[in-house]
Amino acid sequence: NIFPIIMCGGNGSRLWPLSRTAFPKQFLSLVSQQTMLQDTISRLSSLEKTVPLFICNEEHRFIVAEQLRQQHITASGILLEPVGRNTAPAIALAALKAIADGDDPLLLVLAADHVIQSPERFVDAVQQAESLAAQGQLVTFGIVPTEPHTGYGYIRQGAAMGSGYQVAEFVEKPDLVTAQRYLQSGDYLWNSGMFLFKASVYLQELNAHRPDILVACQAAFENSSHDLDFTRIDKAAFETCPDESIDYAVMEPTQHAVVIPLDAGWSDVGSWSSLWEVTNKDAQGNAIRGDVMLEQTHNSYIYSQDRLVATVGVDDLVVVETKDAVLVAHKDNVQQVKQIVNRLKADG
Ligand code: GDD
Ligand code: MG
Repeated sequence: NIFPIIMCGGNGSRLWPLSRTAFPKQFLSLVSQQTMLQDTISRLSSLEKTVPLFICNEEHRFIVAEQLRQQHITASGILLEPVGRNTAPAIALAALKAIADGDDPLLLVLAADHVIQSPERFVDAVQQAESLAAQGQLVTFGIVPTEPHTGYGYIRQGAAMGSGYQVAEFVEKPDLVTAQRYLQSGDYLWNSGMFLFKASVYLQELNAHRPDILVACQAAFENSSHDLDFTRIDKAAFETCPDESIDYAVMEPTQHAVVIPLDAGWSDVGSWSSLWEVTNKDAQGNAIRGDVMLEQTHNSYIYSQDRLVATVGVDDLVVVETKDAVLVAHKDNVQQVKQIVNRLKADG
């Protein structure tokens, strides 16, 4: 049986100023009527599965609970992290919870901030992955790359195995020169950041490659407390856990990874330029939202929340207006929005 694990504890800092620490992007409706979290669940409707588990920061517990309630989504639980320690620990906590509940299910680990244009094809890929995961493989879903993006993991396809391929090499977030080489070689897929594996297999691999993370997560999970649907992870123990993603902690070093190619209109809405790409545009290539007026403006993303925004004679810009902050950025530089957020944090 497939047990969906929804990771929704990221801070989405590259979509500032719309995405805020108190209300990150996975809880916003940026591309459809529903929020990205709600879309993540909706697209699983035709998949045979058990009730999903959510894992988020405790600060966001009421946002998650309310968004599930709105869509009549039942959860098998909501794990609350007292601090963010990235995805390797988050998935470990989910795996420990599944096993503590007396089962060793196939965890379908999903990010809560992706767009998938064809849910049918996605569900099909998950079904193809099932037997490989049941045999003890860590399955990832690979996307044919279209640009030398440095924010993704790259997977070199090896020999065919079942309905997928062995992962010959997994490289998380390479530098630009390396990413360009990978793209040109045609041998690499992007890691979509979604996985299917047995809970016990993930814990074994974590134990093999990052036992320090596993030990900290075990202590934090054992001392967790319960209220309503929430499982509160123990703060003192979890604070000692290293901050690391599944990609670096497990997917790079493991010898047991396979990749299933996924062609389902996947996109990670990681930045303003990727949001521009997945949004409907006018004849001039502009994606607009809210009260905006454009003259001689092309290929731009213009968002107004509170005031009229007007642009004249500009191309390839991102302008995002909110009540207390306005972002103006070139579309090619939107990855650096994160630096602004870091500076705001440093200034308190
Ligand atoms: N619960 C929890 N706790 N969730 C988290 C945490 C955490 O500490 N950190 C991140 N998440 C959630 C995010 O909300 C998101 O849904 C998902 O986990 C992935 O985290 P990102 O921070 O968005 O990862 P990334 O985009 O840099 O990289 C990953 O995704 C890429 C594709 O989108 C990697 O898996 C890459 O290899 C991959 O290419
Ligand atoms: Mg991401």
